[in-house]
Amino acid sequence: MPNRLDLPAGFRWGASTAAYQIEGAVGEGGRGPSVWDVFAARPGAVRDGHTGAVACDHYHRYPEDVALMRGLGLDGYRFSIAWPRIQPTGAGPANPEGLAFYDRLVDELLTAGITPLPTLFHWDLPQSLEETGGWLNRDTAYRFAEYTTAVADRLSDRVPAWITLNEPFVHMVYGYALGIHAPGRALMLDALPAAHHQLLGHGLAAAVLREHGKEVMIANNLTPVRAATADPADLAAADAYDALHNRLFTDPLLLGQYPDLSAFGVTEDLGGAVRPGDLKLIAGPGLDGLGVNYYNPTRIAAPTDPGLPFTEAPIDGVPRTAFGWPVVPDGLRELLVGLRDRYGAALPPITITENGCSYGEELDDQERISYLDGHLRAVEAAVAEGVDVRGYFTWSLLDNFEWAEGYHQRFGLVHVDFETQKRTPKASYTWYRDLIDTHRTWH
Ligand code: NOJ
Repeated sequence: MPNRLDLPAGFRWGASTAAYQIEGAVGEGGRGPSVWDVFAARPGAVRDGHTGAVACDHYHRYPEDVALMRGLGLDGYRFSIAWPRIQPTGAGPANPEGLAFYDRLVDELLTAGITPLPTLFHWDLPQSLEETGGWLNRDTAYRFAEYTTAVADRLSDRVPAWITLNEPFVHMVYGYALGIHAPGRALMLDALPAAHHQLLGHGLAAAVLREHGKEVMIANNLTPVRAATADPADLAAADAYDALHNRLFTDPLLLGQYPDLSAFGVTEDLGGAVRPGDLKLIAGPGLDGLGVNYYNPTRIAAPTDPGLPFTEAPIDGVPRTAFGWPVVPDGLRELLVGLRDRYGAALPPITITENGCSYGEELDDQERISYLDGHLRAVEAAVAEGVDVRGYFTWSLLDNFEWAEGYHQRFGLVHVDFETQKRTPKASYTWYRDLIDTHRTWH
């Protein structure tokens, strides 16, 4: 049996997924096309031409997947709602079949004793909205609030807490600055309005959720930034990177202001995107919880070319996942303590909304167990240092469609054979089940 960790009473154990990565059935139930359907169809966009058209076929197999969650003894399940299932063109009346799917899923979860934790936007924007500018268009934020109303009207009687956005940083950088993810735009710093409009959408959706009496969270991809050396040029570069990756999102949410991005030559109004009143709306009365998605720290050095004020430096001497990501569990403790130190009383309780690793196809995935164990110990250490962490949701329940990497990166506790759709729990599934059980017995 895994050892019991010293975590607060009521600590919630969960697992996470996202709609486009697991549902498949992209042409069913009245769903409209999303930016990811269009992007994945572009030759060369996704490794080996993989798409989310079938994925884990969760749209049809959700009862089997909820049974797997029940077997783990999960308290919570974080999934995302596909906006194009609810509003196939991103506007107008809700599609009853789309709402009915999530209604069934929520009921199935509740019957299994699992609290649903939905994310409203996990990157699958309706394609029609992309055609009017996507998140570069301020109007998308208002459309997002309208969609939130439709979903909250239907599900909020059974869903206590909601996540508005998943990783607005990654969506802006990969989707709009570098073109590695949908919608595939490579605008570099001109992508910044996509960050502001997502945050504005968060603020507007949060107001809708509060009107429904619900708790509001957001899931940010955060990374502790380490300077490559103590040289002032490296320190300045690390500070600039931290402002872009982390503080660009947490500062407006928690302090009601944008960080100084002058190292990027960017003005405080992010190139004219920020209008009077926006920051007040984004911060609102405060978040009920901050979702933290953590994978690895980032090491930053002074720029080697004039384009950007930083360059990424390798992290040497640590193990790596199959994705090549450095495994540094203590980075999670460092990140959590750093958040507490920066934001103090303005920091709401934290839930780890994603943490996990990709490895090969082996069912005896000891490397995953050791990754998860190490990171949970880092959470325990942060709690011992006084950080208020309320839960841990691992990424991911199932092997799934890993965006530009297609089906090549497997993050699941459960192996999926994408030919037959057979699910097989890995050793990490049994380990996580026992870990959850150990904590439940204790409390
Ligand atoms: C973050 C994203 O939210 C999720 O969709 C992705 O699969 C994992 N990280 C792993 O890259």
